Amino acid sequence: MESIGGADRWVDRLFAWHLVLVYYWIMVGYYYFDAVDAYHLNAGIELHATQTYLDYLWEHPEDQKIAEIAADEMNHYIELTRAMEMV
Ligand SMILES: [Fe+2]
Repeated sequence: MESIGGADRWVDRLFAWHLVLVYYWIMVGYYYFDAVDAYHLNAGIELHATQTYLDYLWEHPEDQKIAEIAADEMNHYIELTRAMEMV
């Protein structure tokens, strides 16, 4: 996103930063009430992110940075799935 100008305007960065904070605190509350479902939701988000990056890679197989990010997202999914089993 940054490479195509997604972080050029301060208002975009400010909005994204606050959105992450709101999401974080919603997840803290969700985890408090239902840890397994909170992990499950985040695992689903990580899996969706992985699929989105893989879809992009299908069109742009030369993009190694996206390939690394897709692998990273899959690792996040695996970590969250394992965490669900430990709760
Ligand atoms: Fe992730």
